[in-house]
Amino acid sequence: MAIAGTKTKSVWFCTSCGYESPKWMGKCPSCGEWNTMAEETVVTGKKKSGDFSFSGEARKPVHLSDVGSGSEDRISLNNAEVDRILGGGIVAGSLVLIGGEPGIGKSTLSLQIPLNCPSLKTLYVSGEESSRQVKMRSDRLGGDNSNCFIFSETSVESIIQEAHNMMPDLMIVDSVQTMYTRNIDSAAGSVSQIRETAALLLRFAKETGVPIILIGHITKEGYIAGPKILEHIVDAVLQFEGDSSGSYRILRSIKNRFGSTSELAVFEMTGTGLRQVSNPSELLIPMHEDGLSGTAISAMLDGTRPFLFEVQALVSSAAYGTAQRSATGFDVRRLNMLLAVLEKRAGFRLSAKDVFLNMAGGLKINDPACDMAVICAILSSAFDISIPSDCCFAGEVGLSGEIRPVSQTDRRISEASKVGFRKIYISSFSPADILSEGIEVIRVSDVPALVRSLFRS
Ligand code: TYD
Ligand code: MG
Repeated sequence: MAIAGTKTKSVWFCTSCGYESPKWMGKCPSCGEWNTMAEETVVTGKKKSGDFSFSGEARKPVHLSDVGSGSEDRISLNNAEVDRILGGGIVAGSLVLIGGEPGIGKSTLSLQIPLNCPSLKTLYVSGEESSRQVKMRSDRLGGDNSNCFIFSETSVESIIQEAHNMMPDLMIVDSVQTMYTRNIDSAAGSVSQIRETAALLLRFAKETGVPIILIGHITKEGYIAGPKILEHIVDAVLQFEGDSSGSYRILRSIKNRFGSTSELAVFEMTGTGLRQVSNPSELLIPMHEDGLSGTAISAMLDGTRPFLFEVQALVSSAAYGTAQRSATGFDVRRLNMLLAVLEKRAGFRLSAKDVFLNMAGGLKINDPACDMAVICAILSSAFDISIPSDCCFAGEVGLSGEIRPVSQTDRRISEASKVGFRKIYISSFSPADILSEGIEVIRVSDVPALVRSLFRS
């Protein structure tokens, strides 16, 4: 129903990136995704939310030299892994988005936080579950709920009103898809509602200094949910990865205005909530006996922390004319490139072979240092020769088959040594002054040299 003086019109929004268009399109010109445009009715001529302020205070420009410097105010969430990936606690007045597929553990983690920090007065807004359901979950998780307030509400205006009255130390909103604002006519969960809701919450956070954790769903294809739309608005994005049927979950920082990105934390889903796994190497390296072919260990770095994990490959004769290439947790194009390098620079004919690649623990890897382990796992499976279990790899493979040095090689080496590896292969172009305590460092210059050293000795 249109209000006097207003008109409604149809607009198409890209559900992946939020691009707005007056007509339907098959492919979004902004993010290049197909079939993501969804129709929404918007009201024109209506007062925009930007015209009012909840606090009513007008802000004035200040001289840059008068702005206080020093580090931001950080609040510890009493969860070492979450604090670490946020860069040392949540910054006052920041809006942090936790995204992930349904059932992965977003609500569990965000409820565990206030239960572990009884000193923080927390407002937990649930638009998905009733207060009783949240209570049942909190009983299961245990902890101290004496300072945690549950608010089952989906109207952003009421939520902000309540938050103004209560002035919590921390606010959690589960989830952005269920929230709606009166400013927009379209249904909760639509692109324009999500965008407006987040903007209102951001304004509240900035005006009051209350940090907000916002939860957003993302489907397998990344559609409908829209956390991508929110990435521009929020201060930090933490993304849950992993298989919701398995027990390990990876929380990765993909944007952080107050810290480094690509930090990663590993959690285990237990009967009483998410347990922090502070040493991921222990879980990502083999759980099988020695002598299995097709596996290689890579020393990788996520943000600032090195850890080791297993790369698994299976090479078999193609059953049909065209060989299949499939990779889980690794870029298929990069896999194809590495296979081309093996063929052209080292003479291994893999074009008639199916190649399957898997990263242990449901990890998604984009650290180029993993190339060497990928190549070794593929060759190990192709030759059916196992790689000694005390051996690991850290090197990037270039198009001419050269092994290139990777960042922070020394930290990868010391982590490998700490976890009990006896040999690590790195690029011969790595700095000469690398310390190697308790571990043999083998330097190789190109793929043929690597193969000779590993399989033909
Ligand atoms: P949930 O946090 O509700 O997921 P999301 O909010 O991301 O949709 O997690 C739901 C799953 O976690 C569900 O399959 C049950 C499981 N779970 C446990 O295994 N242990 C627990 O202590 C809790 C609370 C949930
Ligand atoms: Mg949930």
